[in-house]
Amino acid sequence: MPASQPNQAASDRIHITRPDDWHLHVRDGQALDTVVPHTAAQFARAIIMPNLKPPVTTVEQALDYAARIRAAVPTGNPFTPLMTLYLTDRIAPQEIRRASATRSTGLGDMVVAAKLYPAGATTNSDAGVTDIRLIYPVLEAMQKEGLLLLVHGEVTSPDIDLFDREAVFIDQQLIPLRRDFPELRIVMEHITTKEAAQYIAEAGPHTAATITAHHLLFNRNAIFTGGIRPHYYCLPVLKREVHRQALVAAATSGDPHFFLGTDSAPHPAHLKEHASGCAGCYTAHAALEMYAQAFDETGALDRLEAFASFHGPDFYRLPRNSGSVTLERRAWQAPQAYPFGDAELKPLLGGELLPWKLLDR
Ligand code: DOR
Ligand code: ZN
Repeated sequence: MPASQPNQAASDRIHITRPDDWHLHVRDGQALDTVVPHTAAQFARAIIMPNLKPPVTTVEQALDYAARIRAAVPTGNPFTPLMTLYLTDRIAPQEIRRASATRSTGLGDMVVAAKLYPAGATTNSDAGVTDIRLIYPVLEAMQKEGLLLLVHGEVTSPDIDLFDREAVFIDQQLIPLRRDFPELRIVMEHITTKEAAQYIAEAGPHTAATITAHHLLFNRNAIFTGGIRPHYYCLPVLKREVHRQALVAAATSGDPHFFLGTDSAPHPAHLKEHASGCAGCYTAHAALEMYAQAFDETGALDRLEAFASFHGPDFYRLPRNSGSVTLERRAWQAPQAYPFGDAELKPLLGGELLPWKLLDR
């Protein structure tokens, strides 16, 4: 780079405070050995989704799961999993109080949130909530204890068009929920529409949203370009370009109610490349690189740090991380596949050139 272009040279490398991933699936068993090191190389902490089979419904299960995740973190890496409970129709308010107690000691692993999956909305959500009113006593306890509610924001009715399910969820479920629990901190996970971005921007201090890298980079054409491409299929599904643009605007706006959550969701390749392929995009291998690309494409790299490293901990009322990571504008190719237990894991954009590269710790 010629010395006469100092600004250009400066933007070829960026340093940001080490970020966190506020929405992540790591599965269990052998899968952990592949995916946990990817996340630990990029992020200091991650909110771990509880949609295992069977789901993580008790504090005891969550803490056992945290120990298995920690066992897959490379030696010397300080990565910390932040645990969540899976809400069912039958979960007791007492479990919320137990979860809350894990935070107050400041020792060991913490359960910081509970996840609302409308029953049948997505992968391993069959045990989810059939009617939000059934869990009102639990939400009351969460509001009181300061445990966050994380929401998969889609209605499940087959009468509602798949592409409309998020917007309908906001009107039918989220707005009444917000009204009934004004102090409950709610994160609408992996938003995908302009309706969601607008709702969050106007919903006040206790409502936030995560945005994935793939929803910032791609619209729904990606699923059908040159044939059906199952690795771009996730839920909520990619939407029209106008929605992608609204998400980019929200993520780069500086509004603290939007923050990074990859929703990286690994599945064995043969179950994605299948007659009824699983929903979920695997992005943990190159998550920050993809976010950097999305922010760079819109000239907003200077907004990446707040979105990736500040807004999440501030909303969760956890300390921001110390230390930093460096991203460099240097094209590289991610592997096409990783071993995944006895199967293969095909990452999003595997084998394709990515313009940004995270430098090693
Ligand atoms: O695409 C998705 N995959 N969306 C979800 O909500 C769940 C996730 C998974 O667990 O595979
Ligand atoms: Zn998810």
